Amino acid sequence: MEREEALKIVKEQLTDHRYQHTLGVMETAIALAKQYGADEKKAEAAAIFHDYAKFRPKDELKQIILSQKFPQNLLEYNSELWHAPAGAYLVEMEAGIKDKEVLEAIRYHTSGRSGMTLLEKVIYLADYIEPGRHFPGVDEVRALAKVDLDTALIQAVKNTILFLLKKNQPVYPDSFQTYNDLVMRQED
Ligand SMILES: [Fe+2]
Ligand SMILES: [Fe+2]
Repeated sequence: MEREEALKIVKEQLTDHRYQHTLGVMETAIALAKQYGADEKKAEAAAIFHDYAKFRPKDELKQIILSQKFPQNLLEYNSELWHAPAGAYLVEMEAGIKDKEVLEAIRYHTSGRSGMTLLEKVIYLADYIEPGRHFPGVDEVRALAKVDLDTALIQAVKNTILFLLKKNQPVYPDSFQTYNDLVMRQED
């Protein structure tokens, strides 16, 4: 699918603010893909569609997780997590995206997972550091992303977990697994 067509589909699903965020993720993901040798077209597609389900009703997202082979424990955690796996499903069904790597990058863009692919890392990080993001620690991760993908990703995952811990919020176990996996690989 061409970029313009993909953007048109996504624009109808998002608020203007979230659409601008999506454009930022797209530019950042393509740049990271170039820098680290990921497939630029897949990075573009995954970035454009990553937040496709962000504004679907919670009930719809919940029903998709219940009816598809997604981990059911997702439903016990923050509903902000749901749009990622449910989005991968909807993007396949409604936009006709069939590429498994693209769909997995959408699926894991919020939680990460143990054994992330290069494309998944690119999308996770692009979502975190796109130019429209302004929060404590983001500049540090941007600087790290220029030097080393995994180091930047570890910092991003760590910040996300710490943010939840400071607010006494539960942390989805996959986020810890993502962190552990990346850190243990770096030690090797
Ligand atoms: Fe998202
Ligand atoms: Fe996003």
